[in-house]
Amino acid sequence: MKVLGVSGSPIKNSNTDRALKLALEATGLETEFIKLKDYTVAPCQACLGCVKTNRCVIDDDGIELAEKVKSADALIVAGFTPYSSLDSRTKAFLERLYALRHRHGFMMGKPGGAIITCAVPDGNEMLPPAFDMGKNAIMFYMMEEGMEFAGAARVDGNVPCIKCGQDKECKISGLDMLYGKDATPESVGVNIFEEQPQAVEDVKALGQKIGQMLRDIDS
Ligand SMILES: Cc1cc2nc3c(=O)[nH]c(=O)nc-3n(C[C@H](O)[C@H](O)[C@H](O)COP(=O)(O)O)c2cc1C
Repeated sequence: MKVLGVSGSPIKNSNTDRALKLALEATGLETEFIKLKDYTVAPCQACLGCVKTNRCVIDDDGIELAEKVKSADALIVAGFTPYSSLDSRTKAFLERLYALRHRHGFMMGKPGGAIITCAVPDGNEMLPPAFDMGKNAIMFYMMEEGMEFAGAARVDGNVPCIKCGQDKECKISGLDMLYGKDATPESVGVNIFEEQPQAVEDVKALGQKIGQMLRDIDS
């Protein structure tokens, strides 16, 4: 049995990527890691050209990725949250899986999970609910395709302003927005996945749960 992990994070070896790799490892099964930045996937154009063939008419890497998803037994999708919702690479990838739906429901019954990396600090009710927005986008894809949603894990990521070098001069710094006007890159610090015990535990638990769900299906 094989678990496919798909990361929408464009940053090399990002928190998102490393969290996803840990979840895949925790399944205890054969896995494959995909980084969407290495592929070209246009969004669905809602033409319904895939209805009779279960194959998208757009001639890009979305075809190959949909085949990989179709042949996998479970799917873990990891995204991040620019402007407080799911990143566009991950969203376009999910939309293109619409081709696997018609008549057969190729994703029905498959376990699925989500990992969301976001910069909005956990529990801050004054800021947009970035984690929920990202999680819901993946969860609702999975639910609407009849998959078994195993859950979502949250990873604390980094607001890009922490490394842009313009924080002192910037009129609209994300550091001020998220952490208050006295915040500096030094006072905020860089969030590293491996230094977040709760996130590491949640990500591992998600992978283990998906592994167990597959073993239960197999037995
Ligand atoms: C254009 C852009 C806008 C962003 N806006 C938000 C946002 O509104 N909320 C949020 O939680 N994170 C936001 N982020 C931060 C990303 O979620 C962050 O890069 C992500 O947590 C990945 O973190 P990492 O670099 O530690 O893997 C934004 C990032 C970019 C590039």
